[in-house]
Amino acid sequence: MAKAKGKPVAARHVSIVSPSTRKKLEPVLKTVLRDVKPSEKEMEQMTFYSNQLILRLLQVAPKDVEIISAGSVARGTQIRGTSDIDIFLLFPKTQSEDAMEKKGIELAKKVVAKHKNESFMIKYAEHPYVRLIFNDVGLNADIVPAFKIANASERITAVDRTQLHNEFINKALTARQRDDVRILKAFLKAHNIYGAGAEFDAFSGYLCELLVHHYGSFIDVVSAFATLKLPKVILPLNRGEHKQGSEELKNMVKKFNKDFIVIDPTDPDRNVAAVVSKEAVARLSVAARLLLGEPSIKVFYGPRYSEVYSERKITHLRDALHLNVYTLAFKMRDIAPDILWQQLRRLKGKLEYSMKKEGFHVVLSLENISGTTGVIALLISDAYVGHFLAEGPSAFMNESAGRFLAAHPKALGIFFKEDRILALEEARYNTPKELITDLLSNDGEFPSYLKKKNMRLFMNNMPEDIAKLVYSAFIRKTTI
Ligand code: UTP
Ligand code: MN
Repeated sequence: MAKAKGKPVAARHVSIVSPSTRKKLEPVLKTVLRDVKPSEKEMEQMTFYSNQLILRLLQVAPKDVEIISAGSVARGTQIRGTSDIDIFLLFPKTQSEDAMEKKGIELAKKVVAKHKNESFMIKYAEHPYVRLIFNDVGLNADIVPAFKIANASERITAVDRTQLHNEFINKALTARQRDDVRILKAFLKAHNIYGAGAEFDAFSGYLCELLVHHYGSFIDVVSAFATLKLPKVILPLNRGEHKQGSEELKNMVKKFNKDFIVIDPTDPDRNVAAVVSKEAVARLSVAARLLLGEPSIKVFYGPRYSEVYSERKITHLRDALHLNVYTLAFKMRDIAPDILWQQLRRLKGKLEYSMKKEGFHVVLSLENISGTTGVIALLISDAYVGHFLAEGPSAFMNESAGRFLAAHPKALGIFFKEDRILALEEARYNTPKELITDLLSNDGEFPSYLKKKNMRLFMNNMPEDIAKLVYSAFIRKTTI
């Protein structure tokens, strides 16, 4: 583990939670814990399957490969239903990365017991790993090959750090804090900001562990986020923080190009919150204030909604807001969800950009995935567009101003916004549908994993299964 460097750090967060709020919150958290903490029996079952896999792997792996249980099951921070078993195969660094990867996958595949109704799939992160599925019990185990290292400076792949995380967290957290990590995961999940990678650029399990360690308890994490000011740099190794306005803080912000930073106690060069979007931090901050304002189960879990009659609900929304809902539905390849989300978001971004450029007003854009069905929905102001304003450069930029004017020979008018040149053009597309159709007919615009031949475009009305995806994305995006 890295040593604490002697830089001065600010005093820790002073709780804003009053004794009476705390008193109301405690029974709420107790109830939540009962909901999310796996029962003794469930935990035994997880440990049993985890041990069984380790035993099987020991039988097939060479002696110099170490096999460990990692992640939330090994740290006692797993939650009911969503947590998986994580097993790491630690190879000596004498092998090449390619060889390690290949052998790891081979070994993992060998231990899948098909006669026990187990199956597997290859998943891709920075490098591939195997997800083994115990179909009879509905449990997943990720078997991840990595290198055995003693500290982060020896690291070759990103997942090599996990073994160090295990050590740190297992030393740092008390039993009570492990339960608080579970409560924090539940809170984030309820507000759709839990889980690294796939759907949300949100808080990971390890980040939850570090936050509870740093602040001391779930309530203190909530208190801190309720009063959060960015930029923020958290140093969990010695439970310190860089002072607002300090040079150290500014340097960190520059180094990581982020304003919410949680330094990995096992690796000073890693921001554990690197993927956490600003939206996720903002959402947590608001949710924290709401919870402290009204400490109740209802606020903890956030607004509930039902997906029944989604089509009808979208229709209501459309009529009330005078919006048109354009929905694209795709069949997608069966590959890693984070790649599919990425591609879906990229295509959505392109559509949104073109809409804006051509004079349409996109009020809200949504994306969602369920199984191999993906949707993009654009809620667009209900209007026929006859023109658009092309924005040009400053009049003083000789060459580009000339180029802009030459590119708009048929403009209905040339305007100035201060020194900026604008050209009023007749609309190239009168309706969003024309634009979408044209844009998607261009193959270069189409991401590789979305299957174009199965694509459908709906305007306003759509089948209920597609409407459910659109409606749940709408709720996620518009509620806290
Ligand atoms: P998981 O995503 O399974 O997280 O990664 P988790 O902590 O076990 O949480 P849940 O309960 O399953 O949701 C397992 C471990 O791999 C490392 C972390 O140490 C994490 O605890 N990891 C995972 C990373 O370092 N970075 C990642 O992006 C993902
Ligand atoms: Mn896990």
